[in-house]
Amino acid sequence: NDQLSVDKPLQNTSVIVTAGGTKEPIDPVRFIGNNSSGKMGIAMAESAAKRGADVTLLSTVNYTSKYQNLQVINVTSANDILNKLETLFPENDVLIMAAAIADFKPVTVADQKIKKTDDQPTYSIKLVKNPDILKTIASNKTNQFVVGFAAETENLIPYAERKLQQKNADVILANDVSKKDAGFNVDTNRITLVSKDEDPDSWPLMSKKDVADKFWDYYQNLN
Ligand code: CTP
Ligand code: CA
Repeated sequence: NDQLSVDKPLQNTSVIVTAGGTKEPIDPVRFIGNNSSGKMGIAMAESAAKRGADVTLLSTVNYTSKYQNLQVINVTSANDILNKLETLFPENDVLIMAAAIADFKPVTVADQKIKKTDDQPTYSIKLVKNPDILKTIASNKTNQFVVGFAAETENLIPYAERKLQQKNADVILANDVSKKDAGFNVDTNRITLVSKDEDPDSWPLMSKKDVADKFWDYYQNLN
């Protein structure tokens, strides 16, 4: 009914959000990680849930949902996320790739905890490229709307436009992380929305919650 569609504009929309930095295992007790807090992805998930969407959050960070329509699935590595998305993506309407996916992972994972030895001053771990999850998943896009993030320290818009095209995304939310007030582990982002059909739209420095609300306002206006 009309009242529902005003209060819950995303009530018929299913959304998957990935959040946090991946953990790429080295041995049973160690991993390669990064500083992503998961805050941007969690804000995207919560904003969509408040608008009535059916939300699945794939998170590498601990998070307890306060919403009955926001389900959390704990994930670890890039390959773990890819495997879960291969099942979930076809049955959802929107994918938001806010997770900070490690570009590389260890070639092998040791079965036992790696020991240091007295005569060993250095230790090397050989890395291999992770799959590009966004590119792999979005190449099987039917009607889904796919959103990527891009954190850049230079050439923000050209790099974001290249990612939009190469990854078959509908929108890239490009984050200017050249200053300390935006990006990893802070509560604010400086976003430029890059899309296929419209000119890049640069937003002011905003809280991650406000970025999420502004994105979903944009999405709702498309439909
Ligand atoms: N991404 C992904 N799989 C990867 C790497 C990144 O799905 N292996 C996604 C991220 O979740 C993000 C987008 O692609 O939504 C852009 O990530 P970013 O790290 O900015 O781009 P890369 O393609 O990894 O390029 P680079 O780090 O060299 O700038
Ligand atoms: Ca990267």
